[in-house]
Order: sequence, then structure tokens, then C-alpha cells
Amino acid sequence: MSSHSSNLSKLQLRPLLLRSRFGAEIHGLDWTLPLSLCDARTLRQAWARHGVLVFPGADIDDWSQARFARRFGHLCVFRPAGEDGGLPPQVYRSVNVDDAGRSIVPDSLTARLLMLNWLWHVDACYRRLPTRGVVLRAVEAAGDGGDTIFVDMAAAYAELPAATRSQVDALVARHSFAYMVRQRGLPALSADEAAALPAVDHPLVRRHADGRRSLFLSPPYMECILGMSHEASQGLIAELTAWSTQERFCYCHRWRPNDMVIWDNRWTMHRVTPYDISRERRVMHGCVIVGGGVPA
Ligand code: OGA
Ligand code: MN
Repeated sequence: MSSHSSNLSKLQLRPLLLRSRFGAEIHGLDWTLPLSLCDARTLRQAWARHGVLVFPGADIDDWSQARFARRFGHLCVFRPAGEDGGLPPQVYRSVNVDDAGRSIVPDSLTARLLMLNWLWHVDACYRRLPTRGVVLRAVEAAGDGGDTIFVDMAAAYAELPAATRSQVDALVARHSFAYMVRQRGLPALSADEAAALPAVDHPLVRRHADGRRSLFLSPPYMECILGMSHEASQGLIAELTAWSTQERFCYCHRWRPNDMVIWDNRWTMHRVTPYDISRERRVMHGCVIVGGGVPA
């Protein structure tokens, strides 16, 4: 147990923002050791409290990343074991270079799909159970742009004018992958894909186990707010998005290689800042923590 206690004693947590509990940076983890049970518990509590945890200089491989991420919940499996050049089945790549290391073509479908991350979103909002969180590691970071901005959607809700809070509290939004595809002129889904991704309804305000509430916005996928016209729906979504993305609710992460970040998808929203997709190299490896539903 001695490695546990020495590991624990070195763990340090630094807030990322001055006037908010949103986001913390973690120092003092020894990445050559497996995460101790005690540190794992501390980090899960920190994650719950801060929503986004940043681990600068997490010099680990994909397998260690998957083992680390597993301590925060069950992970999505992206492919059968043994495929994709030895990448763990729980690790996905979000990259702007092809398998041979060549830049992707700016107007290609791959580039257009990657650039969806430049829009404010919540991961897999268009599923009945959106993902709970993501553990993302920069293998290569863009030199200019390619930052990730996270929004504290609980603070954004809490600071809304009272009249707006009561207006949005009972509203339900329809999220649809097919809607996003149509809006952005992407190739239509096949019948099988469309059947696998039916539109889903989510409350506009999520209620969390600790009593807090947060706005649930993922604008590109939000087809409408139930009971409202298209114009009124999109107007309200735009207004709430503009409100939520004010600087005081945001943390912007400027990636350096080996940085690893975990975010709670249930009360945050994020986007990547634009970068030159055909010149920069940006290679991110992620693990997705599956959703367990939203507490009623
Ligand atoms: C994602 C995503 C952020 C990034 O993979 O869903 O939003 O910084 N990635 O690449
Ligand atoms: Mn995302």
C-alpha cells in the first residue's frame, strides 16, 4: 500500500478559473504507476465538483489511457479487439491526418465531419443516453487554434434571469442527427443509419443528483423545442447559446502534447476553435464514458 499513500500525498488540485468552481488542473500524479483506489476516488469527486479536469503532461500510451478512463465509468467499445493497428478497442481517434500521415483534404467529407466539432455541442446528444463524459488526450496539438472551449452549463442556467429560468424549466427539445445532416448539407443517412438514429427528446434543463440544474443545448442537432414554431425554437436556442457562451462561463484549453482532459458531458458543452485543417497536425485520442441517463 505504500505506493498508494505516496501517490496520494502528491496529488494537487488547482482551480482553472478565478471566480468559479468550474474546471481544475491536476498535478502530482505519477503516470508510471497505476492509479491508486484512493486517488481514483479523489479524482471522481473532483470530476463531479469541477466538471472538467485537466491533466497536463500525461505521458501515457493508449492502453494506460483506457485503464485510467475506466476508473470514471464504463467505456464505449469502438471495434473488435486486434483491429486498427493495436489501438485499444476503447480508444477512438479524432485526427486531421489519414492513416499514412497525410493531411486531409479541406473540402472532403472527413474534413467536414471533423469540423462539426467546431460548433458548440454535447457529445451524442442525439442519442437517448448521451455519453457521460470523454477522456481526451492530445498526441499532437495544433500550433495555432484547435483549442477546446468548455462551458459550465450549470452556471449558465443559475445566472439566467428568473423569468427565463421559469420559461425554460419545463421545455423539451428534439435532438436529431438526421436534422444536423440536412441542415449542413452532408450526405443523407442510409435507411439503416436513419433507423439507428431516430430523433430523441431531452429536457432543455437537466436536473442533477446534487440538486443543481443545467441547460442542455447542442444547437446543430436541436430540431425544435416541443410546442414551439421553428422560428421561435431556433430563436430561443440561439439566445440561450449566446447567453451560455459568455466568457465568464467558459474555460478554454490550449492543448499541448500529452495533455489529457476529462469532461462531464451532462453539465458542460464544448467546441474546438478553428485551425488550418490542411496544414496543422492535430491528433487526439479519446475514451468515451457511457451515459447512465439523467437523474429525474
Ligand atoms: C469530440 C470533441 C474535442 C477536441 O471528440 O467529441 O469534441 O478537442 N473533441 O478534439
Ligand atoms: Mn465533442
